[in-house]
Amino acid sequence: MNTCIVGLQWGDEGKGKVVDLLSESADLVARYSGGANAGHTVLRDSREKAFALHLLPSGILRDDVLCVITNGVALDAETLLAEIDQLAARGIGLKDNLRISSRAHLVMDYHKRQDRYSEEALGADKIGTTVRGIGPCYADKVTRTTAVRLADLLDLEGLEKRLRPIVDQKNAIFAALYPGAEPIDADAILDQCRRWAERLGAMITDTTALLHRAWKDGRSMLFEGAQGTLLDLDHGTFPFVTSSNASACGFSAGSGLPARAVDRFLGVAKAYSTRVGAGPFPSEQDNHIGQYIRDKGHEYGTTTGRPRRCGWFDAVCVRYSIQIGAITEVALQHLDTLAGLDEIKVCTGYRRRGEIVDFFPAERQVLDEVECRYETLAGFSEDITQARRFEDLPANAQNYVRRLEEILETPVTMIGVGPSRDQMVYRTGA
Ligand code: IMP
Repeated sequence: MNTCIVGLQWGDEGKGKVVDLLSESADLVARYSGGANAGHTVLRDSREKAFALHLLPSGILRDDVLCVITNGVALDAETLLAEIDQLAARGIGLKDNLRISSRAHLVMDYHKRQDRYSEEALGADKIGTTVRGIGPCYADKVTRTTAVRLADLLDLEGLEKRLRPIVDQKNAIFAALYPGAEPIDADAILDQCRRWAERLGAMITDTTALLHRAWKDGRSMLFEGAQGTLLDLDHGTFPFVTSSNASACGFSAGSGLPARAVDRFLGVAKAYSTRVGAGPFPSEQDNHIGQYIRDKGHEYGTTTGRPRRCGWFDAVCVRYSIQIGAITEVALQHLDTLAGLDEIKVCTGYRRRGEIVDFFPAERQVLDEVECRYETLAGFSEDITQARRFEDLPANAQNYVRRLEEILETPVTMIGVGPSRDQMVYRTGA
């Protein structure tokens, strides 16, 4: 059984925990898009400190799982190595269980700087990126002649020849656009590349070929999406999106496998909505409700620590994401966070200038103008963090889940009731 996990909102849906749980029965776990802008927290049990992973697939916490970073990823080698070292410091060393695509693109120091300079220059109009160099790295991928791939680390002489003119070009652009920008030192960058090559060289391989072999051999594969469908470069709330295809559409191009290699596309959504950074968010609650959710759900970014914007569940968004990804089941995370609210609202549609809008709009101006049409459901006050079966949930929590299933026309097969591995309600036959 091959499964692909996809975020149905603006990222941070709790995909890491779902991947961690499903990786128990997987032979291979792969990350196929995004980069160190992503952040997964995985808590193996409530007594230990959570693991914050940005690039390593969550399967790294299990023995006997091969972890793969495929071609679609923008790889920040510095962050990856720091993550490997942090795990080793906690007794989880790599045991020949990580492979990185030679086709993946490297996030260079100058990409991160460019991300920061560009955001600073935009001022109030900034995207609110994670400043991890993601946009500039993917921009170089599209430009082609200025891109640096993992494969280049296997040919350092060739890389040196290519990198010097690239650095000259970057320096010229920075000097022209960003007064005060420090010049980039090509030698320092080359030293860094040599260090990366030394530590990562043995892991760099053709992961497309590897995945096709695994598919042919009937291995059980799990694909871990980063961010969420509404941050997808093509299908999200453009321009307030990330620079990769974070929806299910990114799976094939990002891994080299056809979509039919996946048996199920599992969507992950929170029982409410959150977003970090700027951009439209129709059901946002910039009030005591939003603050309640933020405090109770610890809604602060794993990567940047920024407070997340919080709001009600937006079924228009999630229905759209389900459609885009042909999602067949939903894992609903953080239901426990809603405990204690007298009533819970669900946005079931939009209205703009008095007219009903029944599809997720593509235009930023339209999204800025829509108003949510809400359905109000009764809340629940009980602590549900100990619930393990659907029947353990209070009636109002059950009703909320059932109503979401009706609106989304998709079964909710997993319900998160807390951060630990065991705090999950499974629903078979949903
Ligand atoms: P970038 O991916 O750093 O370029 O940021 C672009 C947008 O995507 C910003 O709004 C970020 O806050 C958002 N973003 C990127 N990665 C994540 C994530 O993993 N979770 C939530 N939002 C993200």
